[in-house]
Amino acid sequence: MTTLASTRAELAALLAPARRSGRQVGFVPTMGALHEGHASLMRVARERVGDGPVVVSIFVNPMQFGSGEDLDRYPRTLDADLVVCEDEGVDIVFAPSVEEMYPHGVPAADREPDGVTVVPAPGLADILEGAVRPGHFRGVLTVVAKLFGLVQPDVAVFGQKDYQQLALIRRMAEDLCMGVDVVGAETRRDADGLALSSRNRYLSTEERATALSLSAALRAAIAAGVDGVQPALDAAQAVLGKESGVDLDYLVITSTGLGRLADDFQGEARILVAARVGTTRLIDNLPIQIG
Ligand code: PAJ
Repeated sequence: MTTLASTRAELAALLAPARRSGRQVGFVPTMGALHEGHASLMRVARERVGDGPVVVSIFVNPMQFGSGEDLDRYPRTLDADLVVCEDEGVDIVFAPSVEEMYPHGVPAADREPDGVTVVPAPGLADILEGAVRPGHFRGVLTVVAKLFGLVQPDVAVFGQKDYQQLALIRRMAEDLCMGVDVVGAETRRDADGLALSSRNRYLSTEERATALSLSAALRAAIAAGVDGVQPALDAAQAVLGKESGVDLDYLVITSTGLGRLADDFQGEARILVAARVGTTRLIDNLPIQIG
């Protein structure tokens, strides 16, 4: 049975028996509007902790949204989310209020906040998503650090869908000695290839068809990867160029650690794309073999 906790005290009380008995705690942080992608993370957490409790947090974190982003319209579907968690055998859902998470107010993510501790993101946070969304990863790392402090998980599961986020959280857990095993799970897609996302529900039927070109572009690049980085990018660009409704933020091939590649690079790399379709911002990425 899934039990809902909305305060830190309730969460601590629910976790106490597992801690006393030495069972492992698994954790899946989310912003809700849960779909099969989130559910797959819950299953990975369950596999890892056996009969230990799996905790899912549902919190639309205001600190990671820039002004002009979709904080106000972000879907909030708690009742449906609880059904997903129940079906996946989640033990505890932690769905706190903004005040519960930020009792001293929500710190600004895009400048040095006064009198409250935040987690500044390293340089890796300033490229790709971070370049388009200044302060975003500072907001993500701060809330994830707070959630790790509250849940004290042994294992936390994140999706490769948000590849840069996963890399930064791994790095934070290691650099700040958080003692959490950060696990990355594969991206779940609809049958036509579209990566599942809570934001997909913003898309009209036509926009959804247009959005398919993102994953199609990644697949075209992967097929052309034997010829090198530039041919792979050209193949992806050719797919995206056919769609007038795609407003591209970036299309890049990086090292698996998100570093720059030499022109003659050969080996395992990552291809990442971000674009707006209508007013909806979508991201996707896949592993790619070069050469
Ligand atoms: P949210 O976008 O709700 O995503 C929660 C987790 O689900 C993230 O780890 C994300 O990578 C993963 N996820 C999303 N779509 C997926 C898919 N199609 N397949 C597999 N996993 C998928 O990411 C966040 O929330 C927030 O930034 C958070 C980490 C909770 C901090 O606020």
